[in-house]
Amino acid sequence: MVNQLIKLQTMTDPTLPNAGALSVVEMTRDLDFKVRRIYYIYGANASTMRGHHAHKKLHQLLICIKGVIKVDVDDGENVVSTILDNPSVGLPVGPRLWRTMEWLEDDSILLVMASLPYDENDYIRDYSKFLEWIKTNDENSSI
Ligand code: TYD
Repeated sequence: MVNQLIKLQTMTDPTLPNAGALSVVEMTRDLDFKVRRIYYIYGANASTMRGHHAHKKLHQLLICIKGVIKVDVDDGENVVSTILDNPSVGLPVGPRLWRTMEWLEDDSILLVMASLPYDENDYIRDYSKFLEWIKTNDENSSI
C-alpha cells in the first residue's frame, strides 16, 4: 500500500522570519505522472467527510494547504490513515484505492493534482463494486 508522504522542496527567507514559506511540486522530480488537472476543496466544516470512491486509472497528489485533513486509503484489504497537517508534504494516491477524507478543522483546504482530465467513468463510487473491480481488473483494463 502506498502511503508514503512526499516532502516538498520548501523555501523560507531567514531575513524575513514572518514572510511565510514557499513549497514547490515539480514534474518530474516530485511526481511520476504529468499533471493534467488541478482542483481544490475549501469552505468545508470540521467533520466533513468526502471521497468515498476509488479511481480506475487516475493518479493524484493530495496536499492539505491549510488546516488538518485525515485521509484513509483502502486497498481492499487494509486501511491506512494519514493526517495531512503540513502544506510542505504531499500524499500520492494511485488508482485502485478507496479513499475517504475527513476534515478535522474548519476551512481546511485540500489541493489535488491529478493525472487525467475529469471523467466520471474513471470513478467507482460503490464499495462492493470497488472490491469486485480490483479482483477482476488491472490498471490497464479499458473503462
Ligand atoms: P468528487 O470527486 O466526488 O469529490 P469528493 O469525493 O471530494 O466529493 O467530485 C464532487 C463533484 O464534482 C462530482 O459531482 C464530480 C464533480 N467534479 C467535476 O465535475 N470535475 C472535477 O474535476 C472533479 C474533481 C469533480
